Order: sequence, then structure tokens, then C-alpha cells
Amino acid sequence: MSAPERIRVELNARSYDILIGTGLLAEAGGHLAKLLARPRVVVVSDENVARLYLASFEAKLDRAAIAHDRIVLPPGEKTKDFAHLERLLDALIALRIERTTTIVALGGGVIGDLAGFAAAIALRGIDYVQVPTTLLAQVDSSVGGKTAINTAHGKNLVGSFYQPRLVLADLGVLDSLPRRDLLAGYAEVAKYGLIDDASFFAWLETNAAALLAGDSALRGHAIGVSCRAKARIVGADERESGQRALLNLGHTFGHAIEAEARYEGEVLHGEGVAVGMVMAFDLSVRLGLCAAEDALRVRLHLKDAGLPTELAGLGGRAWDARRLVQHMHRDKKVQDGRLTFVLARGIGQAFVAHDVPAERVLPVIEDALAA
Ligand code: GLY
Repeated sequence: MSAPERIRVELNARSYDILIGTGLLAEAGGHLAKLLARPRVVVVSDENVARLYLASFEAKLDRAAIAHDRIVLPPGEKTKDFAHLERLLDALIALRIERTTTIVALGGGVIGDLAGFAAAIALRGIDYVQVPTTLLAQVDSSVGGKTAINTAHGKNLVGSFYQPRLVLADLGVLDSLPRRDLLAGYAEVAKYGLIDDASFFAWLETNAAALLAGDSALRGHAIGVSCRAKARIVGADERESGQRALLNLGHTFGHAIEAEARYEGEVLHGEGVAVGMVMAFDLSVRLGLCAAEDALRVRLHLKDAGLPTELAGLGGRAWDARRLVQHMHRDKKVQDGRLTFVLARGIGQAFVAHDVPAERVLPVIEDALAA
């Protein structure tokens, strides 16, 4: 087992490490023991992840003399709601957690966002550690301290910026990830190339097939590049007053798609982001900002990887362009009633536009549906 890659998220007193490597789940007890205020954790997970990893994870905690309890929630985006947050907080309090107890979020983005938010507000804030078990969580949601639940009005509308103490990304867990979830995470990997790293996007064009087929070295490289990019951006703009918004490439479209699909699982977050990134490039072309060839390259790469790229037919349902624009108006990034989009002047040249009129967005969605 080679030494894991260590990436530092520099946030002064709230700085922490991301460890990336194979076998980190087996070594978790040792990594945790070094940073816990007291040797007691509550592991929050979902039923699918718990079935695969929880018993062996707990055995490692035993070996490191760390006391542990577990709270296991249903899988799926619908768990990220008020009802499950309440259930989780009640369970934590019933376990008589103390301010020195640490939560371990063992799961994908849903568990990480929900458990992180619970950690932020339980007893006015206790420590938590992210142990992401999906590609999406490893390259995006477990890093940077965005925690949240969805509401009936939209995605991630209630939450906080609350940084974890450590992120342990074990490459081995990706082998058991269903193909659809792996691909959904891949959309967020490609996002880093599209934002500001054209050479990484070109590397992905060459290596994505082997990476997705299971090459661990390629996966490790791509996750490392992604986490370094995320650590740099979060370190410079933790609370998204500037460049962190670039990480939302594809998300204004994607969140509207997810909200319209009511988080039922017919469209995964990464699938919404993939279609959303294609639409963001299409919008950029329509606004005269980006060459059509670049938008085509984005579409072809994501399609070749196996991701959905077209709104028409996505999730096997009919979409309504006006309803999607209505969802966009509830987005956290709306300023003075105007929509915010991440647009691009080309691959690796994304920028934030706060003044995109809805009239310019609607035809892009209508065209996508007519295609
Ligand atoms: N997932 C976007 C961000 O962390 O800012």
C-alpha cells in the first residue's frame, strides 16, 4: 500500500487535509485517532454503504480504541430533507453526544451534506470527518465545507459553510460503485478541466475511458487534480463571494433540473450537472462568447464518457422550459432578481456572469427540448 497523497485545504485555524489513496478505509482508525478531541465518534451512513463498509470500518475503530455508535439512513437525495435532518439530530442527542464527539460521514454527497449540516448545528457545532464513498463526493462535495439540505423550494437552500477536520478518500471504494454513480461523479471531474484547466480536459479526453474502466493510477491522478483545484479555490474564497462560484458550472441548469424532478432519483446530481454544463456552453455560444467547436467538444466528451448530455428525454420525462427558468429564480445565486450563470469563453475559460436575462436562457432550453 503506497503512501496516500496529502492535499491541504488552507483556511487558517480551520485548515485540514484531504488524503487520497488505496486502503484508507482500513487505516481510518489511525488517521482519526490522531485528531479526535476524545476517542468517540458517531458514524452516519446510508443503508447501501453501511452494508458494504460499516462493519469493517467499525472494526478499525475498535482496533484504534475509538468508541463508536452508528446512525444509518435511507439512501438517495430525498434523505437530504428537514425530516431526515430532524431524525438525525434526535438520534445524535439520544446518543448523548458531547461537544468532543466527532461525526464521521461515511457515504456519498447526501450523507456528507446532511451529516455535515447536523455537525454544524448539533450542540452549536461539533467536529466532523468526511469519508466519501462516491467519486462525486471525493472530488467535490466532501471538500470545502458546504453542508445543506434541500427544501420544497430547491436544492441546498438550508445549510451552512462548516469545514470538516479531515477528508479520507479511499480509491478502493470506487470499485463497488454502480456505473451510473461513477459517471455522475465523472461530470464533476470534467468540470475542473472546463473551469480553468484546458490541459486537464485534454488529458481526460485521452484517459477517461481507461479511468472509468477501473485504472486506479488514472483515477488517483484525476481525483488529485480535482481536489487540488477545489482546495485552491476554497482556500481563496471559502464563502463564495467570488471565484468559488466557478465551481457551480452547469449547476444553475442542473439544480433546476433536479428540483423539477423532485429528487426522486430519475436524474442524479452529476447527470444534471453534465447536461447543465453542455447547456452553459450552448448559452455561451448563443451569447457570442464561445466558439461553437468548444461547446461541441464538451458535448462529445461527456457523451463518449457515457453521460447524458441532452435535456430532451433526460430521466425519461417531459420537461417544461418555463418551469425550469422558474426554478432558476429560486437559486441561491440570484442577485437583485437576476440569474447567475457560469459561462465560458472556451474550454478552461469559465467566468461568472451575474446579469444573464431570463429571455436569453429560455431559447437555449427550448432548443435543447426541440433537438
Ligand atoms: N460544489 C460547489 C462548491 O463546493 O462550491
